[in-house]
Amino acid sequence: MNYIPSINRYQNMVYNRCGNSGIKLSAISLGLWHNFGDVDDFKNSANIIKTAFDAGITHFDLANNYGPSPGSAEINFGKILKQNFSGYRDEMMISSKAGYTMWPGPYGDWGSKKYLISSLNQSLKRMQLDYVDIFYHHRPDPETPLEETMATLDLIVRQGKALYIGLSNYKTPEFLKAINILKDLGTPCLIHQPKYSMFERWVEESLLNALEQNQVGCIPFSPLAQGLLTNKYLNGIPDNSRLAKPHGFLTSQYATADKITKARKLNLIAAQRNQTLAQMAIAWLLKDQRITSVLVGASSPSQLLDSVKSTENIYFENAELLNIEQALGSSTF
Ligand SMILES: NC(=O)c1ccc[n+]([C@@H]2O[C@H](COP(=O)([O-])OP(=O)(O)OC[C@H]3O[C@@H](n4cnc5c(N)ncnc54)[C@H](OP(=O)(O)O)[C@@H]3O)[C@@H](O)[C@H]2O)c1
Repeated sequence: MNYIPSINRYQNMVYNRCGNSGIKLSAISLGLWHNFGDVDDFKNSANIIKTAFDAGITHFDLANNYGPSPGSAEINFGKILKQNFSGYRDEMMISSKAGYTMWPGPYGDWGSKKYLISSLNQSLKRMQLDYVDIFYHHRPDPETPLEETMATLDLIVRQGKALYIGLSNYKTPEFLKAINILKDLGTPCLIHQPKYSMFERWVEESLLNALEQNQVGCIPFSPLAQGLLTNKYLNGIPDNSRLAKPHGFLTSQYATADKITKARKLNLIAAQRNQTLAQMAIAWLLKDQRITSVLVGASSPSQLLDSVKSTENIYFENAELLNIEQALGSSTF
């Protein structure tokens, strides 16, 4: 049967303004880094996207290399759009990125004009789209002049291949340099996508303030530390979890006994709030008004629905915040 989106899809989601732009993003966005590649079950991937849209999620985040194999998440997303969402493109904010290794040789990586233009052309073909809503430079390039990378992002917007520009994994000093170049070119940076969770807090040192001062949005990625900040690993490593899979970037080196101990303590605090650990970890990010949207991953529709419910309570008592800091210990920066 053809998919018909829920008519109530905008009733329960919260939408936050992204910096000083005209764009609002759903408080929860869905990322397609894992679970949408050609190693994954296509029907499940399609069901996750439909569940997201029905829950009011408007923002879907991709990159050239998502899969595995690299590019396959964009191909599958394009098929899912074509099969189920024709007529709904204007209700969606779709992003892609380039910056990591995508093809062999000197033109398939980093931040040159040659790479970024070619990569976005390939991404658009794979997704069967005319444009993306946000195009990100995925990581800073220590060799290419920032002026070349930023001028390319500006060009991409002027060509109509992206509506807005984002930066990802940029540290504060290089972010400030980059956004000033973009401002001068007339294409302001819409949003920054950093890694941020209870377990990864470098952004608190200066980036969040810099984003606020410059009125740029913030969309933290891996808010659940790839699953470690959920109830998933509290009692061992389940089959079919990201940690148990042969591909991906969650390894036992990252999933330390210390993190599991902290997750168990956090889980008790979450239970007192009548939340799952995943919901509390997302709410803990959303409590900060500098956060526009939290970019979650999900391997099933039910996981995503669990995460979406986090928006129902993003208020924390001071005592709860203190208990969370205690559970995390002092090694969070
Ligand atoms: N810009 C960048 O450099 C960059 C880097 C990484 C990611 N990202 C973006 O951020 C997105 C999210 O990253 P992520 O997938 O690492 O996010 P995450 O939300 O930290 O982790 C997602 C994983 O956590 C588990 N999970 C999710 N919801 C759950 C729930 N309610 N209860 C229990 N377990 C739950 C699932 O693990 P299982 O699969 O084991 O079930 C899921 O695959 C990516 O898709 C991508 O768009 C960007």
